[in-house]
Amino acid sequence: MSDIDWGQGTYETTAADLRPAARELVKAARIQPGEHVLDVGAGTGNVALLATELGARVTAVEPAARLREVIAETAGARDLTVVDGTAADIPLPDGSVDVVLSNFGIIFAPDPAAAAAELARVGKPASRILLTSWLPGVMGKLVEIIAGTVREVTGRGNPGGPGIDWHDLNALSALFSPHGFEVTATTLELAITTASAEDYWETRFANHPLGVTTFPLLQRAGRLDEVHQRFLQTLADNWTTPSGQVQLPAQYLLATAVR
Ligand SMILES: C[S@@+](CC[C@H](N)C(=O)[O-])C[C@H]1O[C@@H](n2cnc3c(N)ncnc32)[C@H](O)[C@@H]1O
Repeated sequence: MSDIDWGQGTYETTAADLRPAARELVKAARIQPGEHVLDVGAGTGNVALLATELGARVTAVEPAARLREVIAETAGARDLTVVDGTAADIPLPDGSVDVVLSNFGIIFAPDPAAAAAELARVGKPASRILLTSWLPGVMGKLVEIIAGTVREVTGRGNPGGPGIDWHDLNALSALFSPHGFEVTATTLELAITTASAEDYWETRFANHPLGVTTFPLLQRAGRLDEVHQRFLQTLADNWTTPSGQVQLPAQYLLATAVR
């Protein structure tokens, strides 16, 4: 889904959901004052802003123009530089970064090997890379209801090709070890709660950049209502309380690559 403009719609609601994971990522990075921290796929700046509070000099790389504006506005006078770029194309010199962080960002890179090489290039010889990625389960199941139907309608695979399993430690080791990194990982859980299944659909998918991009396509193909019903039914069958509240236990991997 690399060809999606994440500035469309309202990404801010999801950014708020992901903030606890951003806190875990920043905590695990053990950032020292004065270190140069790079936030890749920074979104609205969840990670970048937290890193500035620890005295780091921070660069946020984000391809979506509107989200870059959101970060810059929030940053105010903090030591935070916002730049246009992608995981595979970062406008920084070789060996200039101490810590690379990516909260569910680099996982959207269409060419993982190129992204890993670029992170290795901008990193200092003793740099570290920490990233988060969804484990199969809640998010995969919900996104697949939409993505699977989009594939049926368009006859195309996921944009950007097959990619890699970013939640698989072996895949991450294969990706980063050619650049001298050793990878370890831990599993964590993010709790997301909404008042109802319809509320979750509306606030987390219909207005999300992925929904804004794909729902018109599903609508034109006459499939949107069916996808909507399947989505609500999946929430009802798995993650809805007797009072109708949605409670998602979304597990994710926090991986650390050190060299
Ligand atoms: C799920 S959001 C995560 C945003 C943010 N890290 C957070 O914690 O909320 C994914 C972000 O990755 C960005 N992105 C998409 N493709 C990318 C790529 N190839 N390289 C870097 N970032 C990318 C999107 O623009 C979006 O801001």
